[in-house]
Amino acid sequence: MHFVTFSILVCCSLGLSWANDWGYPDLDDNTDAAFPDWGGLCDSGKRQSPINLEAKWSLRGKFDELKFHSYDTHQKNLEMVNNGHSIQIDDFDDVLMLNGGGLAHEYEVEQIHLHWWSEHTINSVRYPLEVHIVHRNRLYPNMTMATNFKDGIVVIGVLFHVSNTPNEAIASILKNLGDVKAYSRVNKPVTVANSLAVSDLMPESKGNYYTYAGSLTTPSCAESVIWIVLTETLPVTLDQVEEFKEIEYSNGKQLHNNYRNLQSMNNRAVVLVEAEERTNAAAGRTASIGLILILGLAAQKLFL
Ligand SMILES: *[C@@H]1O[C@H](CO)[C@@H](O)[C@H](O)[C@H]1NC(C)=O
Ligand SMILES: [Zn+2]
Repeated sequence: MHFVTFSILVCCSLGLSWANDWGYPDLDDNTDAAFPDWGGLCDSGKRQSPINLEAKWSLRGKFDELKFHSYDTHQKNLEMVNNGHSIQIDDFDDVLMLNGGGLAHEYEVEQIHLHWWSEHTINSVRYPLEVHIVHRNRLYPNMTMATNFKDGIVVIGVLFHVSNTPNEAIASILKNLGDVKAYSRVNKPVTVANSLAVSDLMPESKGNYYTYAGSLTTPSCAESVIWIVLTETLPVTLDQVEEFKEIEYSNGKQLHNNYRNLQSMNNRAVVLVEAEERTNAAAGRTASIGLILILGLAAQKLFL
């Protein structure tokens, strides 16, 4: 409650719009802090994100493979910014295009940003980090337009699990963090020194995922997102995650958590898609799960 009151005061005394002055609860002060009301659709929407994903409550789906174009091309001169709510990366050299799966349209990558801890949970388990790869439906010229349509945006969510092994792609992002983490650097992008392939932030098996109709997890909370949350997780060390928590969103205030609380399902369908075996040789036989997995991976290598 204090948080909301404070925000309203800041908003009106500085003449800022409400939309630019939203935030996350300070869980350092109080781990039970209520999640603030962000207003508009964030409070009144019926297909909001994130949600808890659970195999036993999901419908089984089978689609053509998702197709990823240029995701493994190393992008040079990417821009990175501390926008006060996350670390965001954009300005790709190539059009990174996604189609196939259950998607009726082509989507291209607009930006990538991170949440610490994860926003989605799987079987009620929260992960230390979630990367969002945000795509715009190519039918619409920009993100503002795309947020007006229920199929305007696809976000691929990649979850990271705690490991002793530092994640190299995350390490290359962290290398630039010192240049943007101070409050004085908020909304001032820097050019990333080293190149990064978006596929480095994704697991090997991209055919296993939960998909559902949801929203942006930050205001305006537009209900225009087809979510694809990959089920294979990637390793990250807790030390790496701690580094993200050092970015400042206000003078001397570090952004220690930037995940939204779980939202109501409202009877929405969540579909669990698992990579199919794609050879005739094994058809009609009972293959072990291991064999299906190996064949699935081999098939992906052939077709991607
Ligand atoms: C988005 O595209 C629409 C339609 O072309 C245009 O009117 C609008 O100004 C654009 N918005 C931004 C932020 O570029
Ligand atoms: Zn996000």
